[in-house]
Amino acid sequence: EKAGFDHFMLKEIHEQPKAYRDTMMGRISEDGKSITLKEIGMTAEQIRGIQKVHIVACGTAYHAGLVGKTIIEQLARIPVETDVASEYRYRNPIITEDTLVIVVSQSGETADTLAALREAKRNGARVMAITNVVGSSVAREADDVITTWAGPEIAVASTKAYTSQLIAFYLVGLYFAQTLGTRDEQYIGEVTTALLQLPEQVEALLEQAPVLKLIADSIVKHNSLFFIGRGLDFAVAQEGSLKLKEISYIHSEAYAAGELKHGTLALVEDGTPVIALVTQEELAEKTLSNIKEVKARGAHVLGVTNHSNHEEVAKSVDEVFSIPNTLALLTPALSVVPLQLLSYYASLALGHDVDKPRNLAKSVTVE
Ligand code: M6R
Repeated sequence: EKAGFDHFMLKEIHEQPKAYRDTMMGRISEDGKSITLKEIGMTAEQIRGIQKVHIVACGTAYHAGLVGKTIIEQLARIPVETDVASEYRYRNPIITEDTLVIVVSQSGETADTLAALREAKRNGARVMAITNVVGSSVAREADDVITTWAGPEIAVASTKAYTSQLIAFYLVGLYFAQTLGTRDEQYIGEVTTALLQLPEQVEALLEQAPVLKLIADSIVKHNSLFFIGRGLDFAVAQEGSLKLKEISYIHSEAYAAGELKHGTLALVEDGTPVIALVTQEELAEKTLSNIKEVKARGAHVLGVTNHSNHEEVAKSVDEVFSIPNTLALLTPALSVVPLQLLSYYASLALGHDVDKPRNLAKSVTVE
């Protein structure tokens, strides 16, 4: 049942190219210039009426929602807030009839996410669900359901569900953009072309797994480390940090690169591993100067960047790992893959139960 892989997590990491393809299938027109989401029952007028979007989810799905915020804001120019589901209801959020609430849940059974969905509906908002389980509670109660076709995810640590949630957000963002006219056909075509290349790019990344195993073997000697990045890189840093904690039990923290010097930099000492994501062209220079700050305190830095920035980043870090080039908006769908593998190999090196980490359950049905 593990199809020759040692663990479900590794199998699921390798299933990502298929999950991307299956989630995009039938939703991008042949010429690539338009998106069809039959599952969205909203009329063009209803979409035009959306004044704001609230994305609500837990854990890894929340991290997908952080990326989702940027995607929808950039493509459709609708203001978006992303909340952790266990916090959302208690902050008395301003939910109106022109709010679209998007709940994201692999299982579709997470108690806090379901409760947030019900709260949203009580307040008259329309609810869209992005879920991997057809017929789940979240799917049954939402107004519109975008299914991620990642297939069953068995490992407690979520991998292919997260990346297919990102694909769902790209499709929703583009669909809104085409309906609202915030982006023209040509631009939509550029994004879909890049989207369709992602599966092969992930395949190329997976071939580099042995390098990440070596890096993981050196990381496990430490009991604390940092992930840093700006913008979308910060969103992915948070997911990378959660993954590492969850299965390797090594303490780590994700920080917005520019925020480190406001306190946390005090924790960086000789040898502290720092994983710095530098995939956003516009922010690269700024992140590189943050890398200098941690290097000056003795940090050992792994830079994760894209091929075109490889040389530049290599000069400032101890090790560098490059992902294939894609549009800045799409990089999370690639940059998270090395972080998933790093966590997997760290857990393996430490002899932990990769698929069933201590204290955790696959589906969290208590609040
Ligand atoms: O099924 P859900 O997507 O609603 O689950 C949400 C979280 O419990 C889940 O993503 C959790 O954070 C993962 N174990 C992380 O790998």
